[in-house]
Amino acid sequence: MCGIVGFTGEHQAAPILLDGLSKLEYRGYDSAGIAVRDGSADAEIIKAKGRLKVLAEKTNDGESVKGTCGIGHTRWATHGEPSENNAHPHASDDGNVVAVHNGIIENYQELKDKLVRKGYTFYSETDTEVAVKLIDYYYKKYEGTPVDAINHALVRIRGSYALAIMFRDYPEEIYVARKDSPMILGVANGESYIGSDVPAILKYTRDVYYIGNQEMARVRKGEITFYNLDGEEIEKELKTVEWDAEAAEKSGYEHFMIKEIHEQPKAVSDTLNSVIKDGMIDLSEVGLSEEEIKEISQIYIVACGSAYHVGVAAQYVMEDLARIPVRVELASEFRYRNPILDPKGLVVIISQSGETADSLAALRESKKQGVKTLGIVNVIGSSIAREADNVYYTLAGPEIAVATTKAYSTQLIAAYTLAIQFAKIRGQITEEQYAGYIEELQSIPEKIQRIIEDKERLQWFASKQVNAKDIFFIGRGIDYAISLEGSLKMKEISYIHSEAYAAGELKHGTISLIEEGTLVIGVLTQPELYEKTLSNMVECKSRGAYLMGLTTFGHYNIEENADFSVYIPKTDPHFATSLAVIPLQLLGYYVSVAKGLDVDKPRNLAKSVTVE
Ligand code: F6R
Repeated sequence: MCGIVGFTGEHQAAPILLDGLSKLEYRGYDSAGIAVRDGSADAEIIKAKGRLKVLAEKTNDGESVKGTCGIGHTRWATHGEPSENNAHPHASDDGNVVAVHNGIIENYQELKDKLVRKGYTFYSETDTEVAVKLIDYYYKKYEGTPVDAINHALVRIRGSYALAIMFRDYPEEIYVARKDSPMILGVANGESYIGSDVPAILKYTRDVYYIGNQEMARVRKGEITFYNLDGEEIEKELKTVEWDAEAAEKSGYEHFMIKEIHEQPKAVSDTLNSVIKDGMIDLSEVGLSEEEIKEISQIYIVACGSAYHVGVAAQYVMEDLARIPVRVELASEFRYRNPILDPKGLVVIISQSGETADSLAALRESKKQGVKTLGIVNVIGSSIAREADNVYYTLAGPEIAVATTKAYSTQLIAAYTLAIQFAKIRGQITEEQYAGYIEELQSIPEKIQRIIEDKERLQWFASKQVNAKDIFFIGRGIDYAISLEGSLKMKEISYIHSEAYAAGELKHGTISLIEEGTLVIGVLTQPELYEKTLSNMVECKSRGAYLMGLTTFGHYNIEENADFSVYIPKTDPHFATSLAVIPLQLLGYYVSVAKGLDVDKPRNLAKSVTVE
């Protein structure tokens, strides 16, 4: 994980680096550091344990550090505990090479042993220090250019990296290299910017280059040159980022998460509008032809976390509408079980960031087996977007809060539209049903809006749950998929232990955990399963549970048993996840706020998980 930034230009670098890091804090926030060079002077390195604000205070918001070229880092610890010593940047002993790194160097111990034999000393527990010293070693050994030295080092490194490196002999220049960790480079007005993600540089430029895997670049003021692993120059096209800079700011909301919850109607409607033309779903930009769709024998959905939960919901919808078998898998498990994939299958990788290491590895494994791949991705130009055979872009815009909300909602829309279109092309639904489903989809944004407007009731209920020890979310079918996401939202930001259970499964063990007052949230959006889930809720109530029921308007008899009821507008049951998840996002959010926790940056987490 971790976030990296860099700048070389006419302005003072430190305030720009700190500003960029503030937009990347979601990638890691246990320590931060910057290295800035004033002309040809050695880099001044300042680091601090804790949030970025500690570094900002230490440097007087960057004012006390002089120089127009520098690199910065915000850390999510992998090798070595969070500490000032382990914080980046790291430097070679003589200050010849200074670098920041995002990723993991898997063979760092072997490389470190080699460098120790060559006389190098190590002061931190990080794998990054190994990379820095390896580059320094090859720079001195071959007396070549920085690109040569980086090249020699990289071919010996196993793992993932986005590196930004300064060499003492090359003032006002930064060198970068990338493999499997995100990085973008931007230029504007004779100045150059480096960032792990678009928000870090969006304030300064929309003109960016996406550096490819195993490529390097020399970054000078307003001029960037790219190299392949052979050290040969390569051409890159400058791309324009369409994201709105406003979208990466809090715009008056207390947290990014609540802002992003409010952005869901727009995100959903933007995503729908990108594929619905004249009342019909058009997947031509995704690139799947009718012939290809007809041929699909099996769908494999592979993802992590909330994106996996989208897959669980999608499985029900796709199988029911399109009658294609769907298997949903956790990306972290997928590649290690030596999957047997049907050559006529379609692997769908769902990922907001497009950089999640396990999802990317699953994509590559599928491609290796020659199976067609489709990425449902939010970040344009991300690794999964570039490597998948086909891409369905969700239009959630930048998502900053670590806990996903709007990206999740747009991923659902992508899954629904694929399901409906597959169903139509494979002759599983009538024209009338097709039109009806599309009409239902188009009503979702307004319904989400209505649920958000009723947030005060949930805020009140949430304030009563701050002392809860355990919360259970139960449901059947699609309601189980909703429960999975509701439970994750609760635990990741409120730190209250919670579990999602298929309602019928509780009595096979878990019900023994229900005690007097345990909150059990029953999700009942599926008319055919309503009575059954209600019975399971009552079973919990008989054992002392306090019940919340989440169902659609009209099912008012829930109040006979539930202690607190939440209603959502009616929709076609296939799409209920899009509505039912909103109160659960709000519940998690308000419990976290009531507990005074850091909603946007929950402990131990990071937004984009680029390590295994
Ligand atoms: C939870 C959350 C995570 C992500 C997961 C996958 O709120 O955000 O569980 O869904 O880390 O991330 P992406 O979608 O970027 O692959």
